[in-house]
Amino acid sequence: MIKHFTQFENRQTADSLIDLALAYKANPRMHASKGIGKRIGCIFLNPSLRTRASTQIAALQLGMEPIVMNMDKEGWALEMREGVTMNKGTVEHIKDAAGVLGSYFDILAIRAFPTLTNKQEDLEDFVFNQFIKYSGIPVISLESAIRHPLQSLADMISIRENTAESKKPKVVLTWAPHIKAIPHAVANSFSEWALGCGYDLTITHPTGYELDPKFTHGANIEHDQQAALEGADFVYVKNWSAFNDYGKILSTDPAWMLTEKHLKHAKKAKVMHCLPVRRNLELSDEILDGPRSLVQQQAQNRIFAAQAVISSILDGI
Ligand code: CP
Repeated sequence: MIKHFTQFENRQTADSLIDLALAYKANPRMHASKGIGKRIGCIFLNPSLRTRASTQIAALQLGMEPIVMNMDKEGWALEMREGVTMNKGTVEHIKDAAGVLGSYFDILAIRAFPTLTNKQEDLEDFVFNQFIKYSGIPVISLESAIRHPLQSLADMISIRENTAESKKPKVVLTWAPHIKAIPHAVANSFSEWALGCGYDLTITHPTGYELDPKFTHGANIEHDQQAALEGADFVYVKNWSAFNDYGKILSTDPAWMLTEKHLKHAKKAKVMHCLPVRRNLELSDEILDGPRSLVQQQAQNRIFAAQAVISSILDGI
């Protein structure tokens, strides 16, 4: 049983969620009436394909009614700050909106990306936490300013499915080039979950792309990408913008894009990416379309990750 799902809590909870997700994967309708009479509100302040669809499917497989609101386009412009005179663009205060949502739904699920300009606000996960504070009901993160735990849970399921029981795999998180400033949430969460699940994690990136050490403590940081990749069992490819020079793009060096050539000393490595991926910028076609790629499996596992989380929250309400 869990109350909110916002981050990695502990190994035991993670293992239980992975076990439950795999049980749902084998039998998606095994608790088809568990959520009957209950509603989940999925609130998107930012775009999504996988998270939007997989969370709804997960809820439906538990008998729940999902209602999706694209608040960025369809809702009133929300005021998040306390005590302000609302004489500018915002129409409704989060206190009022989240209170209403809390009375309409049994579970709320929120996607709220970072500003990448206001570091303090992002690090506090300010917008996401305002929903928790004022809704008064269990909240699931559909990706916040600093974490994407449903993605990481799906990633851990995918690693478990591709690992022999006796083996402790070498997992590498490698930075990839991108043309836009991308949030840190996926990289932060992947590091948090991989380390929390006891994996041997190496993170490789160009100088200046150090992540928040709060998420990477215990990982091996290696700036030589080739050295990092040697002997890897799993290579997670992801771009992120600079953390110290907050939100900046410091490099677009194409040499960091993962290709088959980069994996000559990691012959059996499986390659992961959360999607959406910019082909031939972050990752080559040959890898994405080849036998190493786990990206479709990861995306499929998003359903069962969400189903395990919703089911565990339903146990407590
Ligand atoms: N990986 C992921 O969260 O995908 P979406 O942004 O499409 O939901």
